[in-house]
Amino acid sequence: MDALPNRLEGKVAIVTGGASGIGESTVRLFVKYGAKVVIADIQDDLGVTLCNDLVSENVFYVHCDVTQESDVKNAVDTAVSMFGKLDIMFNNAGIPGNLDFKILESDNENFKRVFDVNTFGSFLGAKHAARVMIPAKRGVILFTSSVASVVSGESPHSYTVSKHAVVGLMKNLCVELGQYGIRVNCISPGSVSTPLLTNAMGLEKAAVDGILCASAVLNEVVPTAEDIGEAAVYLGSDASKFVSGINLVVDGGYSTTNPTYSSIWQWTVTSDRAVCHSIQRIWVRSLPEEITTASSATKFPKKGVSLLLTRIELGT
Ligand SMILES: NC(=O)c1ccc[n+]([C@@H]2O[C@H](COP(=O)([O-])OP(=O)(O)OC[C@H]3O[C@@H](n4cnc5c(N)ncnc54)[C@H](O)[C@@H]3O)[C@@H](O)[C@H]2O)c1
Repeated sequence: MDALPNRLEGKVAIVTGGASGIGESTVRLFVKYGAKVVIADIQDDLGVTLCNDLVSENVFYVHCDVTQESDVKNAVDTAVSMFGKLDIMFNNAGIPGNLDFKILESDNENFKRVFDVNTFGSFLGAKHAARVMIPAKRGVILFTSSVASVVSGESPHSYTVSKHAVVGLMKNLCVELGQYGIRVNCISPGSVSTPLLTNAMGLEKAAVDGILCASAVLNEVVPTAEDIGEAAVYLGSDASKFVSGINLVVDGGYSTTNPTYSSIWQWTVTSDRAVCHSIQRIWVRSLPEEITTASSATKFPKKGVSLLLTRIELGT
């Protein structure tokens, strides 16, 4: 039994990137908790299918490329004309871009594209939401940033930069729009096996979940898109009416520690020797020589994350 079944009753929301993954889960939760929702995405088939699946007059799909101002303006105007107002703007659409971990090999056009969708698209969403929220003197603007905004080196350069920028935008808007009663917050998910992540890693959902659980701080929890959606429900609802300007990291505690030391060096010291198990997480475009030859390597044949386990014996 849900303790607060109607926590979004009467709210009108837009969810960009609402046709898939975290956005889709958020749409389902928003509708479940009583909100009227406009799904804004470029995957029209998925968006319409989701609407049909929800069988509700309180949900509507609009084609909206968040990089196109006319599309974003139309999504906001649609919410207002259909449902009378806009209470929650969830700027969630995003792309991972190429796996540009090496700056000398980074593709400039990819960098611009990732920034265009993840940052400029969020900026446009906030801008047009503010257009109708300022006169109403109320509203909530949410962004999906990423754990990449607080943990460095694990995501591609373009993606990391774009998600840091979203947090900066959120903080500036929090200060600017507070005078109008508008709250502005970020959600920064840890890794969740949505299509974005499984496609980027080139792995099936089960394999991705396995990697996420193996690297988790919080045991016994398989992270889901609903976990992120519930954070959006909280920040969109009046339960968080005094919460503004935060970057809510939803990652099971992953970002609170640097796990590198403990995961790389697991010492087993016996009376006369020490054994070191080294576990390296390596993003690869193709499998490097050392992985294909290491006898104890765990191989994932596709592009993505590979785990390299080596055993080094020290002492006599
Ligand atoms: N999955 C993760 O591990 C993870 C972790 C941290 C942050 N995020 C962020 O969460 C958000 C949602 O990602 P997801 O994991 O649900 O991925 P997803 O691919 O399942 O969903 C992303 C949605 O955004 C839409 N989209 C992409 N470009 C768009 C555009 N130009 N205009 C409108 N819609 C567009 C896609 O069509 C898709 O429906 C993204 O901002 C992503 O960066 C995801």
